[in-house]
Amino acid sequence: MSVEKSKPVPRPGILDIAAYVPGKEHAPGVARVYKLSSNETPLGASQKAVEAFKNAAGNLERYPDGQAHELREAIAAVHGLNPANIMCGNGSDELLGLLCHVYLGAGDEAIITEHGFLVYKIQIMGAGATPVTVKEKDHAVDVDAILAAVTPKTKMVFIANPGNPTGTYVPVSEIRRLQAGLPKDAVLVLDAAYAEYVRRNDYESGIEIVSSNANVVMTRTFSKVYGLAALRVGWMYAPAEIIDALNRIRGPFNMNAPAISAGAAAVRDQAHVQEAVSFNLMWIEKLKGALETIGLTVTPSVTNFILIHFPDADGKRAADADEFLTSRGYVLRAVKGYGFPNSLRMSVGPEEANRGVIESLGEFMGRKA
Ligand SMILES: Cc1ncc(COP(=O)(O)O)c(C=O)c1O
Repeated sequence: MSVEKSKPVPRPGILDIAAYVPGKEHAPGVARVYKLSSNETPLGASQKAVEAFKNAAGNLERYPDGQAHELREAIAAVHGLNPANIMCGNGSDELLGLLCHVYLGAGDEAIITEHGFLVYKIQIMGAGATPVTVKEKDHAVDVDAILAAVTPKTKMVFIANPGNPTGTYVPVSEIRRLQAGLPKDAVLVLDAAYAEYVRRNDYESGIEIVSSNANVVMTRTFSKVYGLAALRVGWMYAPAEIIDALNRIRGPFNMNAPAISAGAAAVRDQAHVQEAVSFNLMWIEKLKGALETIGLTVTPSVTNFILIHFPDADGKRAADADEFLTSRGYVLRAVKGYGFPNSLRMSVGPEEANRGVIESLGEFMGRKA
């Protein structure tokens, strides 16, 4: 006889999940605050996207296009893809969740890496499966460690390429070696949220690998270089069978109309993307050089953020620096939850913020930049 419970009880494992904590945005008592904690672009969105967003306000009584045709076609045209292989999501976060709910269940394992993006673990556990965490090497994904962790239960592997919060990347040859070593029924998820920023000859976002394999998907976002984080726009390029399976459980109107219109206008404005990428490249180099001059260590980054490591000395640790910077209005990201207890992640911000952080950290370290 089943015993009636006194209240609703979540499925086993749900209450073991640590909810995602977004980057902080406040600096109490400071007039001018620079949020450098969520890898948003300092250039903002394309004016064309802003116009499209405003125009969408005239039709708010109507349901959006449930297939997001305009956006999928615009993405397909810019990247040379078939729109049938593109699915859009309410941020790439939604797509990561849908993948887990379609391909994972109790008894399955999904491999993530030591410093991987925290949403993977949340979604794996949300689907009732078991996350298996493998070590990284020199703050970068280690393909051998992943392959060594594969078991008959492995049904998914998540890689952020480039990685967050490390900013490092895995060359395409290594991604191919990984795919070749995985079971054919395990999905390899290549999360390329920062792909637009990468300027390396041996990097590929994943388009080629998805095109030639049945078990690889690539996710992308409009929250970073496109400056549309507020609208929640992500997309996935995937084999037709995977798109078909996810379409069966996705919300019928998961993309809102302003997001569809603004996203399409944003992706068509590649000149704006180039401007953002050039600004970023200049500052990534300047920041790294300046912070190293004042005695800090910075992991080499191909993205729009840097991981700064602090001395293990009283008053000079990451938590002390975080407090010092916040008191001056510079809000960086603490990354203890990512396995870096003595580091901070800094997004490239507007010029005055970048200069301000360099100057403040120089003062903090007692050395001139
Ligand atoms: C590696 C990685 N993947 C995915 C996302 C989520 O992107 P979205 O805003 O499209 O949900 C982020 C955002 O921080 C990220 O860093």
